Amino acid sequence: MKYYFVTGTSRGIGKSVCDRLSEDENHQIFGFSRSDVQDNKNYRHIPLDLSDIQKTAQYEFPELCDAELIVLINNAGSLGEIKHIGSRNAGNIVENININLTAPLLLMNAFTAKYQDLKCQRLILNISSGAGRHAVESWSSYCASKAGLDMLSEVFKIEQNMRPAENRITVFSLAPGIVDTRMQDEIRNVDTSDFSGKDLFVSYKNQNLLWSSQKVSEYIIEIIENTEKYKDTILDVRTIELQNKKNPKR
Ligand SMILES: NC(=O)c1ccc[n+]([C@@H]2O[C@H](COP(=O)([O-])OP(=O)(O)OC[C@H]3O[C@@H](n4cnc5c(N)ncnc54)[C@H](OP(=O)(O)O)[C@@H]3O)[C@@H](O)[C@H]2O)c1
Repeated sequence: MKYYFVTGTSRGIGKSVCDRLSEDENHQIFGFSRSDVQDNKNYRHIPLDLSDIQKTAQYEFPELCDAELIVLINNAGSLGEIKHIGSRNAGNIVENININLTAPLLLMNAFTAKYQDLKCQRLILNISSGAGRHAVESWSSYCASKAGLDMLSEVFKIEQNMRPAENRITVFSLAPGIVDTRMQDEIRNVDTSDFSGKDLFVSYKNQNLLWSSQKVSEYIIEIIENTEKYKDTILDVRTIELQNKKNPKR
């Protein structure tokens, strides 16, 4: 059996990944979000608010004796309030960093404590953002938390490389590109006085430049199924697509 723990499964990229994974009855998916998601024969929903750090820290990963693969996808994320530093709500800053950075680290920590010594293949896939790799006005806690997610993935890689090869957990931090989800709706609906780049995001949508969450989920599945192809920890679907076009046999 292949086991997947996916955060943020109620909509967007996380939902598309789960829909795709559910097609195989050899997959068991545990999905987390605040909104309810209907269980089915291979999907089990775990209601959890990842900004509640106490509750997130209490989550216990189950014993998985028959696992051939165990994957944690830290996908849930939030932009937080889009405003300049100095105008932000203090509580929203803390909440945003808890969802995007503290919760993924807590889950990585618990996942590793539970599954480090298993013999099966294990993978942690953190869903990062291009905004963690270049600064965007008014996205302070989002940019900083995604940069942090990249860095903790790099730290994890160093730590895992200190272990015997057969015992290592693989890690990637993947930027999914610009994807047509509610997160992009939020960006297009901000006041231009809070974010001068709003019109650029409106033009991406008008020019049909956004990827669908289904297309991104295909890349996510491809990475999970072919981890040996990817040598870097920090990945971007747009770079992978360009490389695939240059070298289709890759
Ligand atoms: N869309 C893009 O263009 C884009 C670009 C770069 C990176 N990303 C990243 O891709 C990931 C998925 O984003 P998306 O575009 O699919 O966004 P989305 O459609 O807004 O979905 C976000 C998901 O995260 C969950 N979530 C948010 N806050 C949560 C909380 N406090 N506790 C538990 N779950 C929570 C939501 O569920 P509930 O609201 O039901 O809790 C939802 O399932 C995020 O990490 C995002 O930063 C997206």
